[in-house]
Amino acid sequence: MIRIEDMRESDVEACIDIDLEAFTPAEMAIGKEDPRAVRARHFREELARTWARLRVARSEDGVVVGYTLSWHVADEAQLLNVAVGVSSRRKGIGRLLVEDLVAHARKTSAARVLLEVRASNVAAIAMYEALSFERFNLRAGYYADGEDAVEMWRELG
Ligand SMILES: CC(C)(COP(=O)(O)OP(=O)(O)OC[C@H]1O[C@@H](n2cnc3c(N)ncnc32)[C@H](O)[C@@H]1OP(=O)(O)O)[C@@H](O)C(=O)NCCC(=O)NCCS
Repeated sequence: MIRIEDMRESDVEACIDIDLEAFTPAEMAIGKEDPRAVRARHFREELARTWARLRVARSEDGVVVGYTLSWHVADEAQLLNVAVGVSSRRKGIGRLLVEDLVAHARKTSAARVLLEVRASNVAAIAMYEALSFERFNLRAGYYADGEDAVEMWRELG
């Protein structure tokens, strides 16, 4: 059984491990700094933001296997990141994490959930489409390395 819970300060190192597996330094927009230090700062900044929501997927033995970061502002929820450890993928954990976010957005009367994703990220786009997100825009050259971003949303109605 996987539980979805609020991220704690003590989960940060495990989430950094997941990020380092999931994203290249270029994707994380990390320059020449130590990636662990940059990510640790990032998570601590997000944990301090009142409008940010950080949730982890925890296995029965307490191991963090994935997380989401979202911002909840006015009537919109923005999914900023979702990542699942490589050895835990294709077990429905990404889906559980995004569903948890959508449920929270509904509970707080948000009108929609928005996200952007690299156009080459076939796995994430397939997951979002399986979760009823629709593409509504393509931002050409959006990312620092020139890749396009697909913008997607799910109206909550
Ligand atoms: C995207 C990601 C979070 C998906 O997590 P996951 O736990 O493996 O996803 P799930 O098992 O919940 O998959 C849900 C559905 O998404 C789709 N999907 C997920 N991974 C897929 C893949 N590699 N190829 C095709 N479809 C995929 C499938 O429809 C899947 O349902 P199914 O397994 O019943 O066919 C994971 O691949 C990841 O961490 N990637 C790196 C980080 C990343 O790119 N995050 C997105 C940034 S915007």
